[in-house]
Amino acid sequence: MSIPKAELHLHIEGTLEPELAFALAERNGVDLPYASTEELRQAYSFSDLQSFLDLYYALMAVLRTEQDFADLADAYLARAAAQGVRHAEVFFDPQAHTARGVPLGTVVEGLARALDRAPERHGVSTRLIMCFLRDESAESALETFEAARPHLHRISAVGLDSAEVGHPPSKFRAVYEAAAAAGLRRVAHAGEEGPPAYVREALDVLGVERIDHGIRSMEDPDLVARLVRDQVPLTVCPLSNVRLRCVDTLADHPLPAMLDAGLMVTLNSDDPAYFGGYAGDTFDAVAGALPLGEDDLRRLARNSFLAAFLDDDEELRAR
Ligand code: HPA
Ligand code: ZN
Repeated sequence: MSIPKAELHLHIEGTLEPELAFALAERNGVDLPYASTEELRQAYSFSDLQSFLDLYYALMAVLRTEQDFADLADAYLARAAAQGVRHAEVFFDPQAHTARGVPLGTVVEGLARALDRAPERHGVSTRLIMCFLRDESAESALETFEAARPHLHRISAVGLDSAEVGHPPSKFRAVYEAAAAAGLRRVAHAGEEGPPAYVREALDVLGVERIDHGIRSMEDPDLVARLVRDQVPLTVCPLSNVRLRCVDTLADHPLPAMLDAGLMVTLNSDDPAYFGGYAGDTFDAVAGALPLGEDDLRRLARNSFLAAFLDDDEELRAR
C-alpha cells in the first residue's frame, strides 16, 4: 500500500537482500557458506529471535567499506520510497561492525552518504538511530557511545536491540544517561520476547520516548492503561513477530486489540529482507489478515508521523 507513511522501526542491516549480499561478498572477496541466493533464502526459517540474529550477524561479514554501507542504505531507501515511505528512522548496530574490525566512522559516514542524498534522490527524509546490543556488556555500550562522539551530529537517537530475555533495560542506565546528556532522543526494544516489566523499565529507567515492539505489554492491563494515558508510541512489526514466532500467525496478531485499547501504535517492517516485506507490504499483509478498516490503516499511517522525531514543519512536509 502506497499510503504516505513513516518507517520508525527498521534495522538497516536487516535490509540486506540476498542479491546484494552476494554482490558485496564478491566485491570484498568474502566467502559466503551458501551456493546461491536461493540457498541463502532457504535458510530464512527461524524458530525464535536468536535463530534469526545468528544469521543476521553472520551475513554482515559482507559489509566492509563506506561504499557498502552507502549502497545498502540507498537500496533500502529506493524500495521504501516505492512503497510510500516519506520518512525513515533507521537503526544501525555499531558493535556488530566494530567487533569485525570495521571502524564506527566507516559505518556512520557510509550510511550518512546515502541518507544525505535521500530527500533529493528518493523524496525521503531520515534520522539515524544508534542501537546498543543488549547481549553485550554495559561497558561495551559505553565505549561505543564514547567512540561515536565525533559522529553525534549525524545521530538523532539511541536504541537497544538484539537478544532481549535476560538483558533488562536497567543494564543500560549509564549509557542512556550519557546519551540524554548529549541531547539524543531515546528508544528501546522491549516486550518483543521479554516481559512487560522490561517495557516499564525502558520507560522508568532509560527514559525512552518510544517502545520498539512492545506487544507483550498486552499481558499487563495496568501497563496498557499507562501507555494509553501517556500515548507512548509502540513501533509494532507484525511480519517480524510471526517469522520469529512471537505470534503464531498474522491472524492472531494483537494489533487490532492494541488499536481498540487506544494505544499509540505504528506499523513497521523491522528486518524486511528477512521477514518477507517492506513498509507497504506490511500494510497490505495486515489489511488482508486482520479485521482492520480503511480508518485503522489511516490511523496507523498518521501515528507514524506523529511518533516520528520530526519537528512540526518537517512533519507537515513529510505527510
Ligand atoms: N529484535 C531485537 N533485535 C533485533 C531485531 C529484533 O526484532 N532485529 C534486528 N535486531
Ligand atoms: Zn527491531
